[in-house]
Amino acid sequence: MVSVTAARLQRRRSPPLVERRFPLHLEPKLISIRALYEAAKKARWDPERHIPWKSFDAAGYEAGALAAAQLSWSRRAWTEYGGMPETPAILIRICLEHNGESDPKMFLTVRGTEEAWHVECCWRFAELVGGYRQAPANPDYAELFNQGFHRKAFDPGVSVDAYIAAHVAVQDGIDLELYRSHLRHATDPVAAAILKRLVQDKERHVAFGWVYLTERAKEWPAAVRDEVTAEIEHVLGDLELQGYHCAWLAPSDVAAEVVAADEATRKAGLGASSVAEEGAVLKQWFAEARTAFKNIGVTLRSFSHKRLGDV
Ligand SMILES: [Fe+2]
Repeated sequence: MVSVTAARLQRRRSPPLVERRFPLHLEPKLISIRALYEAAKKARWDPERHIPWKSFDAAGYEAGALAAAQLSWSRRAWTEYGGMPETPAILIRICLEHNGESDPKMFLTVRGTEEAWHVECCWRFAELVGGYRQAPANPDYAELFNQGFHRKAFDPGVSVDAYIAAHVAVQDGIDLELYRSHLRHATDPVAAAILKRLVQDKERHVAFGWVYLTERAKEWPAAVRDEVTAEIEHVLGDLELQGYHCAWLAPSDVAAEVVAADEATRKAGLGASSVAEEGAVLKQWFAEARTAFKNIGVTLRSFSHKRLGDV
């Protein structure tokens, strides 16, 4: 851990990001990432045209279910919003630091657009079911969203590889599995259409993280592996197990209102999962991610949470 801190301090002392443009290396090099970029271009969609907004039938739901869905989908907009400043921040970092292959840069450029569509869809569905909520009722819960991921992505002390491991492979990975669960349980056609589009985009976003890490991990010296491990463990212990994605993991019930809303949204088929379903998703994610990280030389410690158990 000391070496991780020392390495970060040393990198922060070096000159700030400087552009060295040439040569550009525009030819495909990381073929699987180039393929994700090509797939993203083909999958381009438009929230206006591809979501059947007009077919939503509010009369089919009780007032309580609609109120719950307002909060569930507003909360989703709050987390999705994080991807908008975060994606260009990683993109700029990779453009200025890695003058190698262009494939990740092209992929991230498209991802940034997709993040805007995700925010738009979540906000718009919250409006459709009754009205978007501007912020969490509990200020302590609201604070959990102010992570400033873009600032961290810009911090020269944090290596790009550690950032992508912790925030793309881990955080986006958990997010994807939760969305898959919400989609499995959504019976409302508009909610299901949104979730399906978001899941398809997120599958590429997470795949990007893993392809990138697998490629880079081949060259990691022990110090880099230690830093990657430390950043992943920080994100799991200090964000995910504190309720960043699963509101019921937040301490002192600061997100009780969201937890109750998600249960009711789930029951109405409006696009959420129950606590039990999210718990099962998380446990499976931890088991699979632990193995996947081990395969690239990263061994994670175990975690314990009173509501989730040992993972
Ligand atoms: Fe997103």
